[in-house]
Amino acid sequence: MTAEIISGKELAQNKRDEMKVITEDLKSKGITPGLAVILVGEDPASRSYVRGKKRACEEVGIYSELDELPYETTEEELLEKVEKLNQSPHIHGILVQLPLPSHISEEAIINKILPEKDVDGFHPINIGKMMIGQEGFLPCTPFGIVEMIKSKGISIEGKHVVIIGRSNIVGKPVGQLLLRENATVTYCHSRTKNMEEITKQADILVVAIGREEMIGSEHIKPGAVVIDVGVNRNEAGKLVGDVKFDDVKDLASYLTPVPGGVGPMTITMLLHNTIQSASRSLK
Ligand code: GUN
Repeated sequence: MTAEIISGKELAQNKRDEMKVITEDLKSKGITPGLAVILVGEDPASRSYVRGKKRACEEVGIYSELDELPYETTEEELLEKVEKLNQSPHIHGILVQLPLPSHISEEAIINKILPEKDVDGFHPINIGKMMIGQEGFLPCTPFGIVEMIKSKGISIEGKHVVIIGRSNIVGKPVGQLLLRENATVTYCHSRTKNMEEITKQADILVVAIGREEMIGSEHIKPGAVVIDVGVNRNEAGKLVGDVKFDDVKDLASYLTPVPGGVGPMTITMLLHNTIQSASRSLK
């Protein structure tokens, strides 16, 4: 079997084309969706991510502002910035790129963002709402993953989903979202014993470890759907996932590539959330 590739890039483009129309419609009603992105420090990967987010906004017609602050920025100063954006009527979404420098509490900053503008879906209020099925903002990467699975007509209900990774921004929430879709969910992580035995039971395997090409054919049940969330640079400077693509592609039924897989969908769901926030402000 050769896996069908789930192109996040293609799906993202289709969704962005739809969003252009929705954004035009909102503008005709007097609302231009606005996203504020804050980056603290000079991490090159983070810088490239935030610039990608700004570019995507421009493509869809969303107003965006990018604040690139020096590493030395204090927690106080950042809290003040967030407060200003909380109060700005032009801004419907606020995103503070993580990780933050260690002298700033990520918890304090995330808690400061108004839940109504937390388009990343990281605020405890939005995480709580997701857990109990209330309307809020869904975190972008997990939301994008569910959209990718559904785009291929793959049914989630009753499937055994195994997640490798338990981060607050991917692993934990993607499990919750798939549980909402009636999957049976198992989490694996760095302390899991006999991980292969568990991952081999997965109908849908979501890999979000953040380690270059850790997962190979020995972890996978033939016919499984494999979603690779990893973005790593290998020794040659090439972008690679957490999954050995070539090793798995003849075993899986569906597989997401890196790059061009989950990454473009994460940004797209951020745009979706920003437009949704702007629409809510209209009501
Ligand atoms: N760092 C890595 N991924 C993300 C994300 O989706 N949002 C933010 N704010 N920071 C990140």
